[in-house]
Amino acid sequence: MRLDKYLADMCVGSRSQVKQLIRKGSVFINGNKATDPGMAVGDADTVVCDGVTISHRDHFYYMLNKPAGIITATEDNRQQTVLDLFPENMRKRLFPVGRLDKDTVGLLIITDDGALCHELMAPSHHVDKRYLLHTDAPMTEEDVSAFREGLVLNDGTAFKEAELDIDPDDPCSAVITISEGKYHQIKRMLSARGKEVIYLKRLSVGELELDESLGEGEYRELTEQELIILHKKKSNRL
Ligand code: URA
Repeated sequence: MRLDKYLADMCVGSRSQVKQLIRKGSVFINGNKATDPGMAVGDADTVVCDGVTISHRDHFYYMLNKPAGIITATEDNRQQTVLDLFPENMRKRLFPVGRLDKDTVGLLIITDDGALCHELMAPSHHVDKRYLLHTDAPMTEEDVSAFREGLVLNDGTAFKEAELDIDPDDPCSAVITISEGKYHQIKRMLSARGKEVIYLKRLSVGELELDESLGEGEYRELTEQELIILHKKKSNRL
């Protein structure tokens, strides 16, 4: 593969930005300064840019702690999107896995791996998602039972059974586990029980937990261990 394409694919910069880096002498291949953006590199070569080794990888995986006030979309003319939190040269290839409401915070996976996205989001795959929620009125054991049985709204929308774990010290706070991702699902479930959700934070998707050291709006790459967890889910199905 051409060196400039390799660097652009690894999100070092746009094609023209990486050409400039090469001309500036910032890129080394196997210890030798690269001079030609068109020179060939392969998996066996060590590519270093500004002192950082640029390893080849097929996909990118990030954990974002989504802040409130931005939308889960790839682009929008008027509103800030979750991808606006990433450097411009990475935005073209990445997308969010699933959707959180504008006012919801917490774990959002951002990747360019469509197969993983399908694996985690397909309704038939029933991946559990845990959320912390606060309501405007205390939740009760009747709510717990109603969610455990599966709720049907007046408009006929049916939600699968969900686990509601109310905080014994604060009945306006709970952790809920759902296995679907219907539009405004948790808000609609609570609304059907006469409560308004005033705070919602996603804590986990499957076995992947939000890294609480990430501030809202911060992201990091998934670790090897976290990738194994996500991909294990995939291979278990095969
Ligand atoms: N349920 C909701 O109501 N909103 C979210 O953002 C996620 C789940």
